[in-house]
Amino acid sequence: MNRNTRRWIFHFFLCLGIVYLKIGGLSSVVALGASIICNKIPGLAPRQRTICQSRPDAIIVIGEGVQMGINECQFQFRHGRWNCSALGERTVFGKELRVGSKEAAFTYAIIAAGVAHAVTAACTQGSLSGCGCDKEKQGFYNQQEGWKWGGCSADIHYGLSFSKVFVDAREIKQSARTLMNLHNNEVGRKVLEKSMHLECKCHGVSGSCTTKTCWTTLPKFRQLGYMLKDKYNHAVHVEPVRARRNKRPAFLKIKKPHSYRKPKDMELVYIERSPNYCEADPLTGSMGTQGRLCNKTAQQPNSCDLMCCGRGYNTHQYSRVWQCNCKFLWCCYVKCNTCSERTEVYTCK
Ligand SMILES: *[C@@H]1O[C@H](CO)[C@@H](O)[C@H](O)[C@H]1NC(C)=O
Ligand SMILES: *[C@@H]1O[C@H](CO)[C@@H](O)[C@H](O)[C@H]1NC(C)=O
Repeated sequence: MNRNTRRWIFHFFLCLGIVYLKIGGLSSVVALGASIICNKIPGLAPRQRTICQSRPDAIIVIGEGVQMGINECQFQFRHGRWNCSALGERTVFGKELRVGSKEAAFTYAIIAAGVAHAVTAACTQGSLSGCGCDKEKQGFYNQQEGWKWGGCSADIHYGLSFSKVFVDAREIKQSARTLMNLHNNEVGRKVLEKSMHLECKCHGVSGSCTTKTCWTTLPKFRQLGYMLKDKYNHAVHVEPVRARRNKRPAFLKIKKPHSYRKPKDMELVYIERSPNYCEADPLTGSMGTQGRLCNKTAQQPNSCDLMCCGRGYNTHQYSRVWQCNCKFLWCCYVKCNTCSERTEVYTCK
């Protein structure tokens, strides 16, 4: 087979939709068309399935965005009793929390931001059809500051509205939890929008800045993770307000007597108090902390006292072996000693 034939066959199978989907930790090789792929994805709402079928290229990017959100959530909460995993059904958005807690608020916000981020990045790289660089910013001159729009400005509005259409489409019930989820999705997207920044480059002889071109770029996703973690720490307890008795909830207000304030646009909101996440409980989705690593000396959330909820911990001893005192010998090899050390790790009972 020559190279062209092989390439043709490769593309042919690609067109058939042999796509390696990696969504929420689920890996499966799915052959055949978009409708089969879209029907295999667990937990899509009907409208999301329709979007998936009309935009099979986007669904892969969406999957990457969701995964990016989940990974960031696990990083931010790696020392917590709740470590961003839950018991229950796996969906495209990972395993979801039943309780409308602060933790649920964080996951919704980070996933909505993740999808918008991934879609915008794919547009900038030209790997998604129907979008590209932000055309409104091409070629214009910023007279005040003396630079020109150039390069490829990230089209954040495309990513944000894609996230809004797709991620928000799972909210089909009309409940307080729906209002909470929609609000938190929007917080995630706003945090992303506010973190867009300008990057510039100088042109001219030997580094002089005779002309300067600038473009907008996406923030690092880690940065959004820290910002949303901070918002999680300041999340506000809200309750639904009904237009009339027995009517469905119309909006959310801060849950405090004599308070009629609505939550701010950038505040994460929750409607239920968090469980303590000490024991596994299918009702709340808590996985419990049994078997989690903890730190005997730290005075932090991962200290054995806090992590193990007073149940105590097991000590495991092992010896760590590594190469040490390495010397470079002429010529050409490296000689090392073997060092070892006894260490202990602790896991919750
Ligand atoms: C989170 O905690 C659960 C049980 O408490 C554990 O099984 C799981 O591996 C942890 N996940 C991560 C990403 O640390
Ligand atoms: C435990 O916490 C202490 C103090 O914060 C830190 O120096 C140490 O590296 C931690 N140990 C482990 C195994 O993470």
